Amino acid sequence: RKGVKKMSNVLFEIKEHVGVITINRPKALNALNADVLAELLTTVKEADANPEVYVMIVTGAGDKSFVAGADIGQMSTMTAEEGKLFAAYGNQVMLSIENAAKPVIAAINGFALGGGCELAMSCDIRIASENARFAQPEAGLGITPGFGGTQRMPRLLGRSKAMELILTTNQIKAAEAKEIGLVSKVVPQEELMDTAMALAKDICKNAQVAVRQCKACINHGLQTDILTGVSYEAEAFGLCFATEDQKDAMKAFVEKRKLDGFKNR
Ligand code: CAA
Repeated sequence: RKGVKKMSNVLFEIKEHVGVITINRPKALNALNADVLAELLTTVKEADANPEVYVMIVTGAGDKSFVAGADIGQMSTMTAEEGKLFAAYGNQVMLSIENAAKPVIAAINGFALGGGCELAMSCDIRIASENARFAQPEAGLGITPGFGGTQRMPRLLGRSKAMELILTTNQIKAAEAKEIGLVSKVVPQEELMDTAMALAKDICKNAQVAVRQCKACINHGLQTDILTGVSYEAEAFGLCFATEDQKDAMKAFVEKRKLDGFKNR
């Protein structure tokens, strides 16, 4: 195992081109305080810049919680100005994941509440264990979601379901999260990391330049009109024809042979 790195609140390990990021503050159910956010930001940026990493997985330490939200103790004494800065910083972390060149899978191993649900929604693919629970409890704490929940949830689930979950603060179980499309797969807890790894490996076996262009196209397209979106996609499509991977893969197909892996360039 290469690249094992330990910070105090975030663990990072590379396994076969998959960078596993573990939020490691189990005593507080992995709640995000300013230190955790800073370490998470550094870890995501380093993993995105590390050529050995093709895909990232974000999960929480322990078997109870993915992330139980932003740190309520830390927020309890914030002024309006401090609250705004805390949200801006949290958003910077969420955007570092959403805008990472490489795909990020959330392996949701328990509570994904408030900032935890927002972290999961910033990832590209979400899978959950059967004990996972989701909610945006903020309105019950006298605040709005602060790390993008009011923006990403309606984009993911539609306006009505996002309104319902955010305005009621009701908690939902993993099965309902799957039903409404908040997660794409639910598995028993003991299978969660293997399932996330299998998904990551399915991505790793493809041409990584193309994979990264696909992620960028989807994310750009969701923020624009379809004409701008398809023209962005056409640019990306064109760029892929300048890669060795495209030539190798299509030549192999035409010559009816199996391609023996990509060069990823
Ligand atoms: N912030 C700080 N500490 C937290 C926390 C949080 N969000 N969630 C849990 N903890 C701490 C608890 O204070 C407790 O610490 P102590 O042992 O020192 O008392 C420890 O984690 C274990 O938690 P509980 O004893 O409460 O465990 P439980 O099993 O009884 O309950 C829970 C679990 C239902 C998740 C409960 O902990 C809870 O409701 N947590 C808060 C969830 C929440 O409201 N999250 C949203 C925060 S607001 C937000 O995230 C804003 C934003 O959008 C950026």
